[in-house]
Amino acid sequence: MERLDKFLCDSGAGTRSQVKLLLKAGRVTVDGRVEKDNGKKIDPARQIVALDGEILGGKRRAVVMLNKPAGFVTATEDPVERTVMELLPDGMKHLDLKPVGRLDKATEGLLLFTNDGDLLHRLISPKKEVPKVYYARHEGTAGEEDVDAFAAGLTLRDGTVCLPAKLEPQGAGESLVTVYEGKYHQVRRMMASRNMTVLYLERRAEGCLTLGNLPRGQVRELTEDEIAALEAGM
Ligand code: URA
Repeated sequence: MERLDKFLCDSGAGTRSQVKLLLKAGRVTVDGRVEKDNGKKIDPARQIVALDGEILGGKRRAVVMLNKPAGFVTATEDPVERTVMELLPDGMKHLDLKPVGRLDKATEGLLLFTNDGDLLHRLISPKKEVPKVYYARHEGTAGEEDVDAFAAGLTLRDGTVCLPAKLEPQGAGESLVTVYEGKYHQVRRMMASRNMTVLYLERRAEGCLTLGNLPRGQVRELTEDEIAALEAGM
């Protein structure tokens, strides 16, 4: 059982005070009958709540993909910087989404959000080995020795040991890097440990998901099939 006003907020009907006004105005029905009591207990699994005749769903599980532009920090709030939360449309604000892992302020590309805490932890756990593919433009050119060093598991300049990773040179000053964990500035530090300073970084894939044709700065919600495929790969 859940309070009616909380259910309405979770469904995106508005803030607590806006919801109170909607109820007072007689715009909310429970099982077809107008309900004005905001503290009324309802059972979302059995009862049908509607606003202006439109049935509400409560807070459903959601996974959202953002094509992150540079210039935004991955945090739910920040006193100075613009955060990735600002890129979520208003219609998604009530879903209480959290970023999955982190992309640096300068890094672009695929960033997931979810309100499913369990899924979030599985996606960022190194034990699950979810592959993340990055495109890097960098100083120098990657060679066979670099590829082997990545495959063996690099030791960073501060002594941090990384899991084996994949380096695929794409010609002069360009590489694809696949990692299975998410240490702080991981790809930049891995490349730096091989004397290849990263100049540009974009995450192109996470698990079975790719950016596809999602424009930079835009978001889209994953389908249930995509979520199932993501989970099947873990
Ligand atoms: N590795 C990095 O160095 N930066 C990112 O944003 C992601 C991975």
